[in-house]
Amino acid sequence: MSQPEICPQVRTSHRLRYNRQPKEKALSNGSRRPVAAGNWKMNLLRRDAEALCQGLCAGLDTELATDIVLFPTATLLATVARQIQGSPIALGGQDLHPDASGAHTGDVSGPQLADAGCGWVLCGHSERRQDHGESDVLIGSKARAATDHGLLPLICVGESRDERRAEQTFAVLRRQLTAALAEKPASFEIAYEPIWAIGTGEVATPELAQRAHAFLRQTLTELVGEERAATTRVLYGGSANPSNVADLIVQRDIDGFLVGGASLDSGKFLDIIGACARHQS
Ligand code: 13P
Repeated sequence: MSQPEICPQVRTSHRLRYNRQPKEKALSNGSRRPVAAGNWKMNLLRRDAEALCQGLCAGLDTELATDIVLFPTATLLATVARQIQGSPIALGGQDLHPDASGAHTGDVSGPQLADAGCGWVLCGHSERRQDHGESDVLIGSKARAATDHGLLPLICVGESRDERRAEQTFAVLRRQLTAALAEKPASFEIAYEPIWAIGTGEVATPELAQRAHAFLRQTLTELVGEERAATTRVLYGGSANPSNVADLIVQRDIDGFLVGGASLDSGKFLDIIGACARHQS
């Protein structure tokens, strides 16, 4: 049987050399290493996943000034794990069950994700809250289960359009964040994903996003203390693409991106990674 092509380590002229980029900004998020995360949602077959990973790996330098994580569908985890071996890309699951094992047809557990090579897991994505009726309390259990099994939960929060219109945004974010951390997960990162911006092309303005991120960081200070709040990465998600990320990443409380549609295109995702890394360098 022929071996799948592993992420090539050769340096090409097209390879992005982020660590050699000049310093551009010295804002307070400069102390937090950015994260460029790709949520593939329920997309791609194995051959597409292989091609996408190969495109990404071919364009990456191994000494990046940013963390990169891919969140493929569960059926693609093994394929992606093989492809990214030896590269700076980390792997994550899109969801986990709070239990370690048992009679839960269709679910996947923390130990199973870790066994598949995952280091991260999404908790509480709005599509799971909406499509599967996930409650704030359940998401808190999932975040705790994640860290109990050695996974870093990326906890997703965000308001709907109606909630924003009703000026409920901060109340919703506080409620979601408080519940997600209620069981005291050992570690976590946050993604602010306003539902009205997801898949719509209607990205949040940098000012609006910064206000939400600053609010989340302030709420984190109350919940887990100043030191942890200052080191937690708060990613923005919702129609992030190469043409808007540069204006978002310079905001002091925006520490990277959770990218849906644009992460399915290696060129676009590399551009987003490049914007994160340039800002950090
Ligand atoms: P889009 O980037 O496609 O708007 O999706 C955002 C998202 O939901 C990432 O988790």
